[in-house]
Amino acid sequence: MQSSTDDRGRRRFFVATLTTIHAAIAGFIGVIIGGAVASPVFGREREQETWIPAGDLNSLPDNEPIPVLYRVAREDGYREIMDRRVLYLLKNGDEVTAMDTTCTHLGCPVRWDADAKAMKCPCHGGVYDKTGTVVSGPPPKPLARFTTRIDGGQILVRV
Ligand code: FES
Repeated sequence: MQSSTDDRGRRRFFVATLTTIHAAIAGFIGVIIGGAVASPVFGREREQETWIPAGDLNSLPDNEPIPVLYRVAREDGYREIMDRRVLYLLKNGDEVTAMDTTCTHLGCPVRWDADAKAMKCPCHGGVYDKTGTVVSGPPPKPLARFTTRIDGGQILVRV
């Protein structure tokens, strides 16, 4: 008689323990799956537009790519690192184009060669014209462009 009551007590304890473990596992899996599904949404909310001042519109020469050095913060594990980057501005009247200097072949930095009137990539000989259009070499597409806007004569570039 006594052992039957003990068995029921042990059985209840065992069932309650298993139920708790199953609930904990289900909760853990739910957090992982929920995080994987929701993280792109939350990640997008964290992305912020960064507009950098890139100079005075009136001080830019027409039709001559001008390099602009800028800094942008990025996360590296738990640290925030400031990267130094370069973009080129090309003014044509009241319009300004901002071009990335990353070669579209394998990512080397391109440079404006004023004598040759071309953007040249030192890695595999890729050549672009001043608008970033591919002239020769392996680059598969033009240089990427940034969105720009003029605010009170100041050029702002979204990076
Ligand atoms: Fe520029 Fe290859 S990385 S041509």
